Amino acid sequence: MDSFEGYLTKDGIRIHRPEDFAGMHAAGALAAHILDEMVPMVRPGMTTGALNDRITALVEAAGATSATIGYRGYQHASCISVNHVVCHGIPGAKVLKDGDILNIDVTVIVDGWFGDTSRMYVAGKLNRRAERLIQVTHDALFKGIEMVKPGNTFGDIGHAIQSYVEAQRMSVVRDFCGHGLGQVFHAPPNVLHYGRPGTAAVLEEGMFFTIEPMVNLGRPETKVLADDWTAVTRDKSLSAQFEHSIGVTADGCEIFTLSPGGKYHPTWA
Ligand code: MF3
Ligand code: CO
Ligand code: CO
Repeated sequence: MDSFEGYLTKDGIRIHRPEDFAGMHAAGALAAHILDEMVPMVRPGMTTGALNDRITALVEAAGATSATIGYRGYQHASCISVNHVVCHGIPGAKVLKDGDILNIDVTVIVDGWFGDTSRMYVAGKLNRRAERLIQVTHDALFKGIEMVKPGNTFGDIGHAIQSYVEAQRMSVVRDFCGHGLGQVFHAPPNVLHYGRPGTAAVLEEGMFFTIEPMVNLGRPETKVLADDWTAVTRDKSLSAQFEHSIGVTADGCEIFTLSPGGKYHPTWA
């Protein structure tokens, strides 16, 4: 395979080389390690800014680069999305209170490769409705991951996620999607978390992308606040998200962002 350089499919999706998986595993493992380090820090009284400061320090200590600092004007090493914030919450002075649920999303660059992952945390005591939302969202991500193998389509992934979530009487956010990644942050395809079986591009060995479903207890509609980043549910219902970066193999996939400490879900156990 020495002369194989990788190429783009007709849909503009990059097919990576077998040796490229190692770069993605290194980047993914760092992003996941940083999320592991957040587990003991998430508690009532903590600010989202303090969590982000620790993330910034961990990226630097690893000799890596934050992919989000400077990305389209974004200034922080993480997105921290609390309660009805769907995604792209900006860390800052907000103080966590008992029962808050939050997603922390970190993307790092290691030797040119991007690792992008997020998971859910709770400050203090978790209520039953929030726990169910988080469980369904986690399981929806894995319903999608189970569909990842050569010959299946991106529509198969979206359909698996959507049908599972809606059977639980929750809704899938349409306004944000997963994405190809590798030596870039966001590349084709858009990985929709809804869809019809057999539609959209066909999966091939060597494709790298994220799956990152956002699930709401209420309606799927979102709006972006005046800060131009923070996306919230229009009906103010609770929202959850999980994200993994994965690569398609000959017979399935590898997850690049597995938690080294086994703390992906639940983070509060
Ligand atoms: N990590 C997010 C994703 O999953 C993107 C964050 S972009 C930022 O694609 F600028 F908001 F950080
Ligand atoms: Co992503
Ligand atoms: Co992300």
